[in-house]
Amino acid sequence: MRVAIYPGSFDPITFGHVDVLRRSLGVFDRVVVAVLVNPKKAPMLDVDARVASIISGVGEALPDLADRVDVRPFSGLTVDACRELGARYIVRGLRAVSDFEAELQMAHMNHRLAPGIDTVFFMTALEYGYLSSSLVREIVRFGGDPAGMVPPSVAARVAAVAAAEVAPVRVR
Ligand code: PNS
Repeated sequence: MRVAIYPGSFDPITFGHVDVLRRSLGVFDRVVVAVLVNPKKAPMLDVDARVASIISGVGEALPDLADRVDVRPFSGLTVDACRELGARYIVRGLRAVSDFEAELQMAHMNHRLAPGIDTVFFMTALEYGYLSSSLVREIVRFGGDPAGMVPPSVAARVAAVAAAEVAPVRVR
């Protein structure tokens, strides 16, 4: 069985991530979405909320494929998570050339740390090339609507979290 890990922050998962996941399931039998717990970062969604929103979002967006997807939190090195999960492949998405340099560096470093593990890249659909989790966070924090950028249950969750944060100062 071909198992891959798709690591990331997923704060929150976007339709760009979902698109990469869908493409990866055309190649791998099972894909583990591995959600990074990074003590140095203060995410908008805590790790439990990110895991829950990936499960619900994938269920909504990819109902026929969701049974081949696992979602797990992880901390530490991605290659160690790969070894623990029995995955020989790391899935990453590329939106534009600007993603390439950092991804190339990470792929080479991961391969140096674990020569038996390869990174496989999927191009995100053009329509999601502009989309990022950080822009989604910014949009909801300023009261914008993230519909069409993230699955519906994820939109509701980030909107609720943003509403509970300090209200933005509006220009009068
Ligand atoms: O969604 P992101 O934030 O671009 O994902 C980055 C991620 C989680 C893939 C990367 O930061 C990572 O792999 N972190 C785990 C620590 C690690 O393995 N570092 C060495 C990578 S070369």
